[in-house]
Amino acid sequence: MKSREIRLVRHFTGPVKPEYFELAEADIPAPGPGEVQVRNAFLSVDPYMRGRMIGIRTYVDPFQPGQVMDGGAVGQVTQSNADGFAPGDWVLSMHGWREAYTAPAAGLMKIDANLLPAQAYLGLAGMTGLTAYAGLKRMIGLKEGETLWMSAAAGAVGSAGVQFAKAMGAHVVATAGGADKTAFCREIGADAVVDYKAVSDLAGAVREAAKPLGGVDAYFENVGGDHLQAALDVIKPFGRIAACGMIARYNDDTPMPGPTNLTQIVGKKLTIRGFIVTDHFDLQREFIGDLSRWMIAGQVQMRDTVYDGIARAPEAFMGLFTGANTGKMLVRL
Ligand SMILES: NC(=O)c1ccc[n+]([C@@H]2O[C@H](COP(=O)([O-])OP(=O)(O)OC[C@H]3O[C@@H](n4cnc5c(N)ncnc54)[C@H](OP(=O)(O)O)[C@@H]3O)[C@@H](O)[C@H]2O)c1
Repeated sequence: MKSREIRLVRHFTGPVKPEYFELAEADIPAPGPGEVQVRNAFLSVDPYMRGRMIGIRTYVDPFQPGQVMDGGAVGQVTQSNADGFAPGDWVLSMHGWREAYTAPAAGLMKIDANLLPAQAYLGLAGMTGLTAYAGLKRMIGLKEGETLWMSAAAGAVGSAGVQFAKAMGAHVVATAGGADKTAFCREIGADAVVDYKAVSDLAGAVREAAKPLGGVDAYFENVGGDHLQAALDVIKPFGRIAACGMIARYNDDTPMPGPTNLTQIVGKKLTIRGFIVTDHFDLQREFIGDLSRWMIAGQVQMRDTVYDGIARAPEAFMGLFTGANTGKMLVRL
């Protein structure tokens, strides 16, 4: 059987360009003992993948030029040579960026596509949701009545976090780029919104927006750069910051100087905690419990941006850096 896949052409720094990716065809063997063959239905593209294209090891190994990349994917078993897996079963894997694959069943997780749409396991009910949950619960320790500033709030982690924070009884100031995205943030429950592309003084705009909510107690960092600078200025003394990601910096050719107001960390006695979701799988059971309650109560909704076809996977990935997505960015095969 043949499968089309996306390979990395070479390592690079700077902006992402289409020529760094190639569409290729691979032979997929029949499953050996303990293996299954799977046809992917949805692939996830994620900002962290950018770090794997530079060629240095961060908290995860780099992708290798000339080889298919990997990433989250959900698909259905087409052939099985493994106990407990039958054709038609839905599985979650890290065998993304390809249409189909053969792999040991032991490395796959079966998912219930009757309970939730299969793609939800890549977004709200998957790593994305757990990232938002761990950041709010464990890094920030968000309390009822507090006010959270969520950055990149119309994106995957951001929109999950806005809704979770509201369900936890907090107030939310959401920042996102453009009128459609700020409208979406309001729709999912943000108390106040700021279109960061439409203001010249981000700190001032967030401060004003947070004033009726008692000011910013905590900041969820997805962006970095000017957003972090503004957050250090706006946040109240003893504020907590969950450092989840800094997407504004991922395409830098050379490292940019940090915020000029780092002394605010001292004077305001701030706590800044960086984290990676893979260290927080022990929260999974509690997360799914809370998420199920919130979904049943209608407090949480899912929004995806979907590109069709494996050939468009690089375009979907590049779209993360231009704000092309509202909610989770996915590729449907
Ligand atoms: N620590 C972890 O374990 C972990 C896990 C998952 C994700 N993350 C991080 O969480 C953040 C969000 O990831 P995600 O998967 O949810 O992606 P996402 O937010 O769905 O997509 C990226 C969004 O970032 C915004 N953006 C891109 N470039 C920007 C810039 N220069 N300045 C301001 N905003 C910019 C865009 O929204 P606008 O149109 O609003 O600008 C874009 O839609 C990323 O930093 C990612 O690395 C961390």
